[in-house]
Amino acid sequence: MCGIIAYVGTRPCAQLLIDGLRKLEYRGYDSAGVAVHNGKEITVRRAAGKLSTLQDLVDREPVAGTVGIGHTRWATHGPPSERNAHPHVSGRVAVVHNGIIENHVELKHKLTSLGRVFTSDTDTEIVAHLVDMAMGRGLSLVEAVRDSLRELRGAYAIAVLAKDDPTTIVVAKHASPLVLALADGAVLAASDVPAILAHTREVVFLEDGEIATLTQSGAKLETVSGEAVVREPTTIRWSLVQAERGGYKHFMLKEIHEQPRAIEDTLRGRVQLETGSCIADEIGIAEPEARAIQRVVLLACGTSFHAAMYGRYLIEQLARVPAVVDLASEFRYREPVVAPGDLVIAVSQSGETADTLAALKEAKRQGARVLAVVNVQGSAIARAADGVLYTHAGPEIGVASTKCFTAQLAAMALVSVHIGRARGALSESRAKELLEELVRVPEKMRAALEQDAAVQLISRELVSAQNALFLGRGVSCPVALEGALKLKEISYVHAEGYAGGEMKHGPLALVDRSMPVVCLLPDDPSLEKMLSNVQEVRARDGRVLAIVNDPACATALAQWSITVPKTAPEFSPLVTTIPLQLLSYHVADQRGTDVDQPRNLAKTVTVE
Ligand code: F6R
Repeated sequence: MCGIIAYVGTRPCAQLLIDGLRKLEYRGYDSAGVAVHNGKEITVRRAAGKLSTLQDLVDREPVAGTVGIGHTRWATHGPPSERNAHPHVSGRVAVVHNGIIENHVELKHKLTSLGRVFTSDTDTEIVAHLVDMAMGRGLSLVEAVRDSLRELRGAYAIAVLAKDDPTTIVVAKHASPLVLALADGAVLAASDVPAILAHTREVVFLEDGEIATLTQSGAKLETVSGEAVVREPTTIRWSLVQAERGGYKHFMLKEIHEQPRAIEDTLRGRVQLETGSCIADEIGIAEPEARAIQRVVLLACGTSFHAAMYGRYLIEQLARVPAVVDLASEFRYREPVVAPGDLVIAVSQSGETADTLAALKEAKRQGARVLAVVNVQGSAIARAADGVLYTHAGPEIGVASTKCFTAQLAAMALVSVHIGRARGALSESRAKELLEELVRVPEKMRAALEQDAAVQLISRELVSAQNALFLGRGVSCPVALEGALKLKEISYVHAEGYAGGEMKHGPLALVDRSMPVVCLLPDDPSLEKMLSNVQEVRARDGRVLAIVNDPACATALAQWSITVPKTAPEFSPLVTTIPLQLLSYHVADQRGTDVDQPRNLAKTVTVE
């Protein structure tokens, strides 16, 4: 996830672009840049690190011009560095891009064979080359962008500036957000509303497959195939602070709602439905390496530990390799035994968690191969590992992890299918079936998010609870643990998650009418057993909130139920997690806690 901005007008725009980028920093902040046209040529300023570094650079080396583009980056292809910072330039063209070009490897290969020289590791640079080549064939800027878009697969919001056309910027969008702003004597485009609110409240949201030509006299909106589009502007009524959170009251709520997009981005370009295969090259585990794996050891902390637990279930089930999961903080201090045949998977949102990093290093020291599943490009864990599978959830601001958790679950699903296929444990047809279902999961998550109002109503009944239990079996067990962690960390209500089978071995003693028990009842082979757990809770007067696929299965027993769409049992955690996140959010909000920054916690735990 990155932020882009474009300006065509009468005011000197370098500072104006940086001010706009500051409002988009929540979308990424590992490097930034601007390109400004002064009527004769384009000047680019780029810097690795936070936006303040770019600001210092532009203060030292000012840039003149009233037409320009800017970018704040969240690295997806290539580490955060000056050479990978946008704008990317090829010949006469400068481009900023938010999204992922899926077919970048193939296009880069083609362009290299045509003699184009790449100066970055990014997928974006391809767009600059394509547009430059098309303009070289005599096409206008807009025609050249249109022509280039036909070659691209994936997600993009782009803004393109050309030396030969000093008064125009062309923007286009597919599957990444882009909004146009029509101000007095100027037109802007940006990834999100906060970047343009200082200029106007009149905006036009671009739809997928649309392209706009921005000049001082306005914006010409068309489809990529050239049909004119007429769209009335929308008036933004949010305050600036609200707008930064996309209109949501808290970043956590916004991030909960971003999950379908985060999963789509994490799966993008990594799933081949035709062959039932996924993520081959990226993680460096080809067929011989996969066959040589004796055991998988998953290491993580907190929420990421719950994703690792899910990974263990799935790896054993789909890849038929023994798998164990361990808290990184325990692993590193208990003289663990690791063998060269072990594949160690370190799971971390931040990629900086001290215990996970130390555990990874210990595993490497003992000769294991280490794969990192992390969200932050170039982070310490990503650098220390032998291979990396990045989750593309974008920056997570709320301290309580939500979208990074479900993106980790999606990554675990990819790893399991990949190893299962490579070892021959999973047939091609079964892998295809699973992957087809996996790519449908974001739609089901969207439907689950529609239960927000219903969850909020239920949360009113739970707001005064002192304790809560969460129960699940199989792949739903880590979901129960995560539901309990989420509730306790942001609402400060004491909550415990248990495997359903453990109830009789102790926790049942806690159940009485004051105890809400959240039961995960997706339609899977453990459903009957879970329904017995529900009976046991009801027999002790406990109050049950059932998360179900089929409302009929809980009506007689549960006080409350939330229905979410059914998916393959292997992937149900990606959907059933959503009502639990919403529940903890609404309970915390009603209790008046600091949802985005709960007491005593920090987003990145770099101390042991
Ligand atoms: C809880 C949460 C934490 C983190 C844990 C590990 O919502 O976010 O439990 O999961 O601190 O952090 P990472 O994933 O960055 O290694």
